[in-house]
Amino acid sequence: MKKILTLVAALLTFAVVYAESVQTVIIPRPMEANSAKGSYTISPKSVVAVTDAALVRSAELFAEYVAKDLGATLAVEQNEKGGIVLSLDKSLSKEEYTLTISSKGVQIVGGTPAAVFYGLQSLRQLISAGEVVKKGIKLAGVEIKDKPLVGHRGVMLDVARHFFTVAEVKRFIDIAAIHKMNVFHWHLTDDQGWRVEIKKYPNLVKVGSKRKETIIGRNSISNTYDGTPHGGYYTQEEIKDIVKYAAERYIEVIPEIDMPGHMVATLASYPHLGCRDEKFEVRTRWGISKDVLCVGKESTFEFVEGVLDEVFSLFPSKYIHLGGDECPRARWKECPHCQKRIQEEGLKNEDELQSYFMHRVEKMLAKHNRKMIGWDEIIYGGINKSATIMLWNDRNRAKAISLGNDVILSPKYFCYIDYYQTKRPYSNKEGLMFKERILTLRKAYSLNPFEGLQPSEYGRIRGVQTNLWTEYIADFERVQIKTLPRLAATAEAGWTIGEKNFDDFARRLEHLRRLYDKCGIRYATYFFDGVDEIE
Ligand code: ACM
Ligand code: ZN
Repeated sequence: MKKILTLVAALLTFAVVYAESVQTVIIPRPMEANSAKGSYTISPKSVVAVTDAALVRSAELFAEYVAKDLGATLAVEQNEKGGIVLSLDKSLSKEEYTLTISSKGVQIVGGTPAAVFYGLQSLRQLISAGEVVKKGIKLAGVEIKDKPLVGHRGVMLDVARHFFTVAEVKRFIDIAAIHKMNVFHWHLTDDQGWRVEIKKYPNLVKVGSKRKETIIGRNSISNTYDGTPHGGYYTQEEIKDIVKYAAERYIEVIPEIDMPGHMVATLASYPHLGCRDEKFEVRTRWGISKDVLCVGKESTFEFVEGVLDEVFSLFPSKYIHLGGDECPRARWKECPHCQKRIQEEGLKNEDELQSYFMHRVEKMLAKHNRKMIGWDEIIYGGINKSATIMLWNDRNRAKAISLGNDVILSPKYFCYIDYYQTKRPYSNKEGLMFKERILTLRKAYSLNPFEGLQPSEYGRIRGVQTNLWTEYIADFERVQIKTLPRLAATAEAGWTIGEKNFDDFARRLEHLRRLYDKCGIRYATYFFDGVDEIE
């Protein structure tokens, strides 16, 4: 009897162990991955069956994604009979999916089409790392349950300092999609270039989208320029095309029209919007300009409203990013219009003048049922509860979180991927950077969105985001090398629920790297070569 009991206990233990978590190759790591019986071989003849028309496009994209692995583009059919079946289950949350592989095939069930798309990204990674057999690719049985930690998983590309083509922006969006990011923050305007066609204000592209030359070398010491004009902008049709392209990949495009600072390209186009009636050139150096929008003149608000009206028609996003960062007060201090505004509105100082500006523009958004995101400097003169703070400065973290507003974390020492990604930037090809700061993969991975917070405060953290500023990044190859593999680390910070483990991430990254290779995506190899942390 005792023997039988021992045997039963052993069998039970085995059953439990058998259903226990398995090592997965997926990045970001899923919430749960348990072993399941059997395996399934995806072959060129496998069919992707969708049970809902809303899933057809994702299925088609998936068929394209894995065509290289399988040597064929899988057929997509609208029924319930296929090797890979996609379906919806409203009892799951918005971004939650299950992915089951068994001898019967593959099943992905999502709370929404976006969730199914995430399941397909996981499957794509499993296929890329799967065992190549005669008939196709053999996948081990597994039951994955997955959903993200935070709702905003963003990646920003600055196209103002250097312009990137429509095709390149789409490739950037493709890269974001692999990592289950769901926001593309498009930094479209800055001192060095205005990149979005606004029909009411044609000078913005005629004048503001071009700079006559670009500084060579480090901004703080150099006085030499390349003598080569740089420019570019997106037509409204191109923007709509990109927004649609991103939406098919369940990525929302949030445009940033940075104001009231970082506006020199605008002032070059329409000089009357500045505090001084003088001429401006689209800026040819980096850094912060003292010339900003005049907040005293009503014409500034008319202009902003005219621009935003067109922005609303191009971007369906709930949120519009209004910048608000790095706005010096010098011009406002000496401007009679701005000083009159301060007096008439009973404002205490120029910080409150910026808040007056942001509040008025926020109202323009509210009229169109949109909400504002701003960089953390918007808190200096006070903000409304409705504003979302994008936190990049450590010094503002405690205050920003204490306000109770929604916060998106983009702390520069974890999320600014223009920083060097190796401790030996000069011994290799990192190129120049705006400031001498280092953000290794390990450091990017160490971001914990809820660090130092009380559980009651977790809800304030709406998301995490990686930002790529492009002062010193002039071509798309460098965009990719800066972005990867660090984006994978931030993706896991924003997605993965539960304990994180860098060594396990590194193991999985070897697989993801192979997927990058297959897709022709470039990435930095410092980490893979073991030289990123060497001083
Ligand atoms: C910023 O880096 N100026 C938001
Ligand atoms: Zn002024």
